[in-house]
Amino acid sequence: VQAQIGVYGLGVMGGNLARNLAHHGNSVAVFNRTPTRTRHLITAHGSEGTFVPAETIEDFLAALKRPRTVIIMVKAGAATDAVIKELADAMEPGDIIVDGGNSYFKDTIRREKEARAQGLHFVGMGISGGEEGALNGPSIMPGGTEDSWKVLEPILKSIAAVAEGEPCVTHIGENGAGHFVKMVHNGIEYADMQLIAESYDLLRRGMGMTPSQIADVFAQWNLGELNSYLIEITSDVLRQVDARTGLPFVDVVLDEAGMKGTGTWTVQTALDLAIPVTSISESVFARGLSGQSAQRAEARKINLPGPDFSIAQQNEGTFVEEVRKALYASKIVAYAQGFDEIAAGAQQYGWNIDLGAVARIWRGGCIIRAEFLDRISDAYASGRQTTSLLFDSSFRTVIGKAQDSWRAVISLATQGGIPIPGFTSSLAYYDGLRSPRLPTSLIQGQRDLFGAHTYRKVGVPGVFHTLWADTDRQEIQQN
Ligand code: 6PG
Repeated sequence: VQAQIGVYGLGVMGGNLARNLAHHGNSVAVFNRTPTRTRHLITAHGSEGTFVPAETIEDFLAALKRPRTVIIMVKAGAATDAVIKELADAMEPGDIIVDGGNSYFKDTIRREKEARAQGLHFVGMGISGGEEGALNGPSIMPGGTEDSWKVLEPILKSIAAVAEGEPCVTHIGENGAGHFVKMVHNGIEYADMQLIAESYDLLRRGMGMTPSQIADVFAQWNLGELNSYLIEITSDVLRQVDARTGLPFVDVVLDEAGMKGTGTWTVQTALDLAIPVTSISESVFARGLSGQSAQRAEARKINLPGPDFSIAQQNEGTFVEEVRKALYASKIVAYAQGFDEIAAGAQQYGWNIDLGAVARIWRGGCIIRAEFLDRISDAYASGRQTTSLLFDSSFRTVIGKAQDSWRAVISLATQGGIPIPGFTSSLAYYDGLRSPRLPTSLIQGQRDLFGAHTYRKVGVPGVFHTLWADTDRQEIQQN
């Protein structure tokens, strides 16, 4: 058989993706640098569909029908570059290389250019949903040319998750657009997880509830407007008990969060684009703080002064509901910031990204899948929203109703010494955005005083500088 598509790299993600392709009637050529992996896949799963195993690059490419399309599932970075080179050297004009890893979008822009110079198509493709998603239906974010999308579309639609009858895949835009959107997906994922962790902390240390009681709270929240994959799995994790000690899993796990870099890229990119993604950056920094083990140990040892991490005299049921509302409001801010970054990236890099379509393909398969994405896609699709999601009538109403709780939770947490940087920064962003005047006029004055950096004035055209050192402090118009 001539296979329709090839998968290069049969780690867990690659192997699962190859099986998913085969399950949906696609014939799949499979290749791995160490052939034992390929043999293992065929032994364990060969009967699930049509696989064509290959042990050399020549056999692998010879097994593919034209244009030969290969999805690379190897580690982002140098390994990906090496595999692209290996394939590109052996491929012919018109062939398509798809990078399904978590690559940095600027690498994708560069690789696409290089491949194009060789007459090849290069598609940077974000895939979300972890191992389970790769096997049973991920959310897929391909970039690259329209021509390669035409080839990939039926194949990707066959394996993507389905949300409300629609496959969770769309052509995001040219070159690095797919990886850019996947990167921001991960940034939002970090924020979502941080906000959930803060909610847990408020109930655990603040209210003294047990992990299993809090698991029940999350299960309850999952039935309402917060319904989402991350809320659902939070319940599971909180119910988990350590087999060795019988203690809650969350009490025996080291509280230093790992990260592989996509959240950091989201924030670095946002800084370059001058887009304030404060809810996302706080969540990256919160992981960073958790990993500062030496400083944290010393802080404990010298007993840095502060309140005892509890919230006093609150009715538990009332407080749980207030936290739920604060979580939802903060989450809306985090998503609004993430979508702002996508819009700014599209502008900067010349991509035509349909934000409503992005929200639609995130409704299923991916880690941040949530009922709430329906409301985001509505806001964009209806054309109601072009600036910030926060201005959309549906979210305005939600935040309007939630904000008293949001503010109350933040006050109580602050008084009790429980750090909730995600909640706090989200509210600060919201209040900053709605402030008629900001104290940044003062900053402009300071800048002009010490460095003659100039300023503009309300309702007066032109750029000004004050001669601060002179006694009469004359104001000069500069242009
Ligand atoms: C996904 C995830 C995935 C990522 C994990 C881990 O969409 O399936 O985003 O791509 O590997 O989220 O990321 P960190 O190790 O950085 O937390």
